[in-house]
Amino acid sequence: MTNPTPNAQASGTFTIGGDLTVHRLGFGAMRVTGPGIWGDPQDPQEARRTLARLPELGVNFIDTADSYGPAVSEELLRDTLHPYTDTVIATKGGLTRTGPDVWIPVGRPEYLRQAVHLSLRRLGVDRLDLWQLHRIDPTVPRDEQFSVIADMQREGLIRHVGLSEVTVEEIQAAQQHFTVATVQNLYNLVNRKSEDVLDHCEREGIGFIPWFPLAAGNLARPGSVLDTVAHQLGATPSQVALAWVLRRSAVMLPIPGTGKVKHLEENVAAADLQLSDEDFNALNAAGQDEWTSQQKQTPQD
Ligand SMILES: NC(=O)c1ccc[n+]([C@@H]2O[C@H](COP(=O)([O-])OP(=O)(O)OC[C@H]3O[C@@H](n4cnc5c(N)ncnc54)[C@H](OP(=O)(O)O)[C@@H]3O)[C@@H](O)[C@H]2O)c1
Repeated sequence: MTNPTPNAQASGTFTIGGDLTVHRLGFGAMRVTGPGIWGDPQDPQEARRTLARLPELGVNFIDTADSYGPAVSEELLRDTLHPYTDTVIATKGGLTRTGPDVWIPVGRPEYLRQAVHLSLRRLGVDRLDLWQLHRIDPTVPRDEQFSVIADMQREGLIRHVGLSEVTVEEIQAAQQHFTVATVQNLYNLVNRKSEDVLDHCEREGIGFIPWFPLAAGNLARPGSVLDTVAHQLGATPSQVALAWVLRRSAVMLPIPGTGKVKHLEENVAAADLQLSDEDFNALNAAGQDEWTSQQKQTPQD
């Protein structure tokens, strides 16, 4: 990529919940923590520089969670970016942590309420612009989880509500309690498990936040369609994978994450990449084939 001043503005805009307009290419603040998303980052100064660079690059949609660290990511965001002028901070709650790489859903209403209060305090705001239920806890009736979230929205603690790792049926069940503004599911060029959820979000005008959006699996290998398109465009395979994700749907809000300024700048530069229809379709087919072949190897996945 040759553009010296990348800007997320080039990715276009999406309006969350009908009143929060953001540039579609956002940032995931999970990687500004320690290994296993546990504790402080290994290079705290670089993590701070990365966050401070976001507004300069036009990134005004930032995803975090109380469980990243835990608390570390939200606190760093407050230290570096508060009062978040013209920036939407989306956080999440509903997963508790007992150690590195361990994530345990807790959906008891009193726990979700505590999570929201602690995120408000750590982020230093009166209301959370977008609060997402990180996981529906399978051990707690889901209506109890949805009900307390609806209560907190009515009380003004939460502006918009999102869900994470959900099916279409779960989105519809939640809509009985509140308007689902966004859905955050694993999705990328080579992981199409949530294609039906994405299509549903597109029909309903729900923002779709794909996590792990940079992944390209085996398609990153030399000589692949992705590699060829990347060479033609003078870009990296991850930039092309991200450009494909952005182009896949107008409701797509990717949040690539990093703790490094250089990687952030590279990711934002993907907003400027123009994929031809031919390249988009070829990448689409190759990604779908890769996903199908992965499914054959692990049919239960
Ligand atoms: N809802 C959920 O359950 C859930 C689960 C996981 C993640 N998330 C959210 O989604 C966001 C993104 O997910 P993710 O972090 O798993 O995936 P990702 O953004 O696709 O990939 C991040 C990984 O790629 C590296 N990376 C980033 N930019 C790079 C570049 N330009 N060149 C080379 N390496 C690069 C990062 O390491 P470096 O730090 O070294 O750059 C990191 O290891 C997270 O930050 C979080 O907000 C949500």
